[in-house]
Amino acid sequence: MTGIFCPRCKGDMTKRHSARGPFWGCKAFPTCRGTLNVTADGGSDGTTAGIDPTEFPLDAKPVDPATVPARIIALDDEQLLVAAWRSGEAVAAAAAGSGKSTVLVERTADLVREGELPENVLTLTFNRDAAQSLREKLAKRLGSDVAARCRAATYHAFCLALLKRWYPTDARLGRIVGASDEAPSKLTLFGQALRETNAPGDADAYAEIDERLREAGIDLDAPDAVEQVEKSRWGGEAAARIVTVSRRYSVLKHERECCDFSDMLCVVAKIFAKDPKRILRYAHVQVDEAQDTNVVQQQIAMALGGCATSLIWVGDLRQSIYGWRGAEPTLLTDRVAAGAQLLPIRTNYRSTVAIVEAGNAIARGHDWHLGGDCRARPDAPDGERPVVRSGGAADAAAWISADLADDSDGQGPSSFALLARTNSILVDAECALVARGLPVRVLGSRGGVWETQVGRLVRAYLHAADNEASPDFVRIGNRPLRYAKSDALKRAAGNTDITVVEALRSTGDRGCIRLAGDLEDLEDMSYEGRCDQVCKWLVRDVADRAAGLKQEPDEDRIETIRALCEAAVQAGSITAIEEQVSRIKKTKDDQPAVTLSTGHRAKGLEWAVVYVLGTDAALFPHMKATDVEEERRLFYVATTRAACSLTYLVSAGEGMSPFIDEMGDAVKVVIEAGDLEEERDERDEA
Ligand SMILES: Nc1ncnc2c1ncn2[C@@H]1O[C@H](COP(=O)(O)OP(=O)(O)O)[C@@H](O)[C@H]1O
Ligand SMILES: [Mg+2]
Repeated sequence: MTGIFCPRCKGDMTKRHSARGPFWGCKAFPTCRGTLNVTADGGSDGTTAGIDPTEFPLDAKPVDPATVPARIIALDDEQLLVAAWRSGEAVAAAAAGSGKSTVLVERTADLVREGELPENVLTLTFNRDAAQSLREKLAKRLGSDVAARCRAATYHAFCLALLKRWYPTDARLGRIVGASDEAPSKLTLFGQALRETNAPGDADAYAEIDERLREAGIDLDAPDAVEQVEKSRWGGEAAARIVTVSRRYSVLKHERECCDFSDMLCVVAKIFAKDPKRILRYAHVQVDEAQDTNVVQQQIAMALGGCATSLIWVGDLRQSIYGWRGAEPTLLTDRVAAGAQLLPIRTNYRSTVAIVEAGNAIARGHDWHLGGDCRARPDAPDGERPVVRSGGAADAAAWISADLADDSDGQGPSSFALLARTNSILVDAECALVARGLPVRVLGSRGGVWETQVGRLVRAYLHAADNEASPDFVRIGNRPLRYAKSDALKRAAGNTDITVVEALRSTGDRGCIRLAGDLEDLEDMSYEGRCDQVCKWLVRDVADRAAGLKQEPDEDRIETIRALCEAAVQAGSITAIEEQVSRIKKTKDDQPAVTLSTGHRAKGLEWAVVYVLGTDAALFPHMKATDVEEERRLFYVATTRAACSLTYLVSAGEGMSPFIDEMGDAVKVVIEAGDLEEERDERDEA
């Protein structure tokens, strides 16, 4: 008996040791998680220790420094300052390729070698790919056992794990909207919310706006929610309606006992704010790609950092490209203004001198600098200036194919990337690469463009026209809106004894009967006619849904639908499309493949040879873009992915991007805008 009693269950306590030192823990752990601080005399002053015994293992031991390999790469003086930061808040502001992520890994290794428990170092990353890449680098540096003890996670993964630990019996955490089979889909819930509130428009669009608003820190239950939404970049005229629908969605979520991804962030942020004792006590908190942190993520990182010995924000204002999703690039400058130490890193280790110069040329003269220009590393090769050519995905595929055939520099397919300005260009690019027989990996979609949401809709329609109910059959029922009930659609899809059309009719549901009629029309058409009709329906659907929200239709989505339907015609049959999907799916993560990506997804990654597709006047900045500076930053991100060779491809006759013009001599233009027009005229004549 210790005479110290648990503040929660009043049971006996025992002295335990955590990464943060000794504390009193309830003997009934894990049933009870009560903790108390240990005072200097070994007793207790009755204050909760704020230690979650499952988060910080009781028996974790420091790593024997002799087993941590010495640094292999030599960090430069600026990088060393970041790696050696031990207490207080700092902002490591550095341009692309300056080794920001590398320094985070090295710093973690240094801390572990100094005796810090790996469990005590938390690195928060932007998305799953980034977290994965960080864990791989840690494993390489520290060995897989020690690396597995380091905390490297996305905000979502971090928050979900935490909530599960706090509320192990809460069923909602096992029923995540959009991620678990037991939960209804977000679309279903928003669809119901729309019906119940008599709001017109698109469930998908509301779902997306709801997520953005909440992650931008707007409380939709607050009395002034409508005003806040009006002022935000998503609200506009439909603000009142958005708030009504979102609130209804919240209630439905509650009734159906499930939660969604934004809930995880928002709930944790709220708990941290309300009850600081529950903030986990890491010793060191590091945030990578901090320029793209949204408001709620910021709140979480600030709370954790506030309880830690050190907090480092690592990022680059020049690469802030998620303003449209609620990221607050001012974070970095704000933190410096609030007293965080600015630690610039100015040497680029990724690229040739010519490519570093090109990046600087884009960034120069704009006010989103923090840390100034960067320079190439002393031993960097000069390299060729980036080239601007006329051409599209098919040309790039031909050049890559030729490069690979002439294997003189020993570069495999993984050295190449095609970065597309828009998703529709991605469609063309995938087809062009597949047509050349090249292995392809599409970032963000394992099965490539046909596995994206729109791609699956087109495929589902083409299958339905052949009388097959494919997995996405239920989703085409209301695209365009036919007022088909989802349970009726499900019933029809499950009824495999009769034809799809008969099954739809047999439900007696009016919307299903309408779909049956439409599918019969499709059946009578040629394959090309079917592709054409599906395109019309899906484009109309986008327009109708935007109208309901009083918004402009999403041009990129419409272009993507058109590109997919054209690609479907080119493929010649739905069987050929399915073959393409399964071929791309079969490419394992570690298998060499040419990477295809949008500029957004490519953030943080690098390739020897990069082609940027669609650097046209109308696309960069995108004609629909409201924030030209963010477009410039996206152009900067695409440019700085290249290590050795970079080609900008201009496809249409409207001339090249003004961003290229601004780069002056930093690029070599082998076409003039006039040539493009001539070329187009020649093509048209032919
Ligand atoms: N001090 C260094 N010496 C040699 N190479 C380095 C050094 N720092 C970083 N690199 C290399 O530079 C490239 C870019 O590093 P990365 O950490 O991805 O940069 P960032 O996160 O700033 O974009 C990587 O290939 C990395 O291995
Ligand atoms: Mg990085």
